[in-house]
Amino acid sequence: LDNGLALTPPMGWLAWERFRCNIDCDNDPDNCISEHLFMKMADHIVSDGYLAAGYDVVSLDDCWMSHQRDNNGRLQPDPQRFPSGIKALSDYMHSKGLKFGIYEDYGNFTCGGYPGILGHLETDAQTFADWGVDYVKLDGCYANPDDMDQGYPMFGQYLNETGRPMVYSCSWPDYQQNPNYNLIVPVCNLWRNYADIQDSWASVTDIMDHYADNQDQLSPLAGPGHWNDPDMLIIGNFGLSYEQSRTQMAVWAVLAAPLLMSVDLRTIRPEYRDILLNPAVIAVNQDPLGIQGTRVSKANNIEIWTRPISPVEGDDHSFAVAILNRGEGGTPADVELEPGKVGLNAVNGYNMTDLFDNVAHGVVKPTDTITLQVNPSAASILSALLLALALESLPGDPL
Ligand code: DGJ
Repeated sequence: LDNGLALTPPMGWLAWERFRCNIDCDNDPDNCISEHLFMKMADHIVSDGYLAAGYDVVSLDDCWMSHQRDNNGRLQPDPQRFPSGIKALSDYMHSKGLKFGIYEDYGNFTCGGYPGILGHLETDAQTFADWGVDYVKLDGCYANPDDMDQGYPMFGQYLNETGRPMVYSCSWPDYQQNPNYNLIVPVCNLWRNYADIQDSWASVTDIMDHYADNQDQLSPLAGPGHWNDPDMLIIGNFGLSYEQSRTQMAVWAVLAAPLLMSVDLRTIRPEYRDILLNPAVIAVNQDPLGIQGTRVSKANNIEIWTRPISPVEGDDHSFAVAILNRGEGGTPADVELEPGKVGLNAVNGYNMTDLFDNVAHGVVKPTDTITLQVNPSAASILSALLLALALESLPGDPL
């Protein structure tokens, strides 16, 4: 969607994967979907360095609403759980330098059974604008998927007509058998293509495989203002090991995926926080060219994924290269990387650095080989910067 927003993949915090539809504030006041939870997360996003790293959206997901609209047909939050109202919550986010995201559903109900927008498209778009919403996630439960090709664009138009810039996150293709991306890309800033992420390695690998197996169709869709969305980052929760968490971060960076954390920021362990905050991996994700990477080789449990990034010189890009060991054999694999075999052909070579461990591999030419040790279920991610440009920054270098 060419609305000037989301020129790099959105980054922020989204409630669903970790906090679900927990509305039991009597018994679980600290974890239920309430204004208290979102304000706490916002506080941590600011104080713990996430905002500075680029995570600037805090978004509601399902189950924030009252089951009834008000007398004017407007949506309203659950009065017990959001006693201050949504405008106050949005103001709170803005006062902290954050953007505020909201969740609704195109159908008659949200997946959790709260009011959907059908029959109220114009009112709801205006309500969101009045509340100062910056980001709208529109789910697709309780709707006829055939109606979405009309309905999602119509709601997008109403959002646009409010005059308030709002990122538009669509679940549209996720609900259709054969989505017509020619319709979706101009209407949405990001779109969910595939199943909901769950808190497990099996879910993460299933999603990675989906994006790789369908990369010829999906990768060309991505670019500044319009992104495929493989769903939230589950790093720091219960289901992923440290190595698996690095793998999710590396692959989401290569996929130019939105980085939407869904984790309890009050209790996340520091080593997981460091994965989410890794500036070099975030820089790959946020590369301004906005090219979605692809899996370029797969053999004997080893996968290599590459993403062209800036800087560029002539026909040559720099690259991010993720090397995955999908094996579960219990000991690290020695992986030989020959850049020319995975499409890195710049004659002068590349200045390669391992981004997680900040190890410099120095200058690597297309026919050179470097050997990397990759742990089981783990990923290395390298930045391969074009050599000519890398050396430009070294004054007095003979080249
Ligand atoms: C389905 C979506 O795909 C999820 O991300 C989440 O928003 C739930 N619905 C909420 O009910």
